[in-house]
Amino acid sequence: MLSIHVSKSRTKMNDTLLNVENLNIFFKSDKNPEPIHAVRDLSFSLKQGEMLGVVGESGSGKSITNLALMGILGDSAIIKAQECTFNNKNLLNLSEKEWQKVRGGEISMIFQDPMTALNPFLTVEFQLVETILAHIDCSKKEARERAIDLLSQVGITSPADRLKAYPFELSGGMAQRVMIAMAISTSPKLLIADEPTTALDVTIQKQILMLIKSLQIKNNMSVILVTHDLGVVSEFSERVQVMYAGEIVETAETKKLITYPHHPYTYGLLSSRPGAIETKPKSELPSIPGIVPAFHHRPAGCQFNPRCTNAQNDCLNQTIIIENGLRCLHPMAEK
Ligand SMILES: Nc1ncnc2c1ncn2[C@@H]1O[C@H](COP(=O)(O)OP(=O)(O)O)[C@@H](O)[C@H]1O
Ligand code: SF4
Ligand SMILES: [Mg+2]
Repeated sequence: MLSIHVSKSRTKMNDTLLNVENLNIFFKSDKNPEPIHAVRDLSFSLKQGEMLGVVGESGSGKSITNLALMGILGDSAIIKAQECTFNNKNLLNLSEKEWQKVRGGEISMIFQDPMTALNPFLTVEFQLVETILAHIDCSKKEARERAIDLLSQVGITSPADRLKAYPFELSGGMAQRVMIAMAISTSPKLLIADEPTTALDVTIQKQILMLIKSLQIKNNMSVILVTHDLGVVSEFSERVQVMYAGEIVETAETKKLITYPHHPYTYGLLSSRPGAIETKPKSELPSIPGIVPAFHHRPAGCQFNPRCTNAQNDCLNQTIIIENGLRCLHPMAEK
């Protein structure tokens, strides 16, 4: 058995927490004899305490990648990777018992719509206390005290009273704060926030993102922040990866990528931003005609070629590999 020496249970700052090499996700389907190749050769890593922004239009494979990292993609999925290590554990080899410790314990997730993620028939107290008790060895009284403390940490006033509320009694922003409290209740090393503000009003969006950022710093927590808006990641994450049709097309430090986007898709995403933080998800971007191809209707060659203004003949007939963080044969010219 592989033995790894870790002096403390807590990973040190700047240590790699998550390392994914050549992750491929396929879906079995009754209609196709061959499984559909959804996510292709995804490689990325995340340090302890770092926030990685993941950007791309709907259908880029952002959520299925996250669900794979949480071990909840379902039986129709086939996951293959050269490496998928989290906190020195191979996620591809975990037993269900080990997953129960990792999922919701060491890795937590907040979803787009808090109202669908919370159980409408159970009080905040029940849901929060049960989550704490499932992962932390403590009494019910201690779990309740922790729940009150967590609600106050996420900016909920009169937290003891709010514990008694049912989800329908909460506003969207308040419900998302409860979801965040649940997600951080087990002191996860990694928080995956999958479009956490898309369902919220524009003013609340920024508050929630600032809350996630402050918790990341305070708890030295790693965060994968998924959004369709490059503006959001430019404000909050240290690094960005841009996904298109199940592939990473560009990845770089946020400042570098925003200042000088090399990939025509990244350039298009930036150009299509009307202003500050977006309010609605888009299936079609104004400056990039067309939509993300379905995984079972992929174009030959570069996946972006039908929409790309830089496309040339050599883009149409070969698989484009990612090199130095860029998957493109004819990048945008430097200004
Ligand atoms: N169980 C599944 N079987 C087949 N295809 C799936 C399954 N789950 C997701 N997909 C495909 O993956 C596509 C998008 O993946 P998703 O990760 O949700 O994209 P994003 O989060 O970037 O919008 C869906 O449009 C769908 O075609
Ligand atoms: S490889 Fe070609 S088609 Fe693809 S993004 Fe680059 S220029 Fe466009
Ligand atoms: Mg999604």
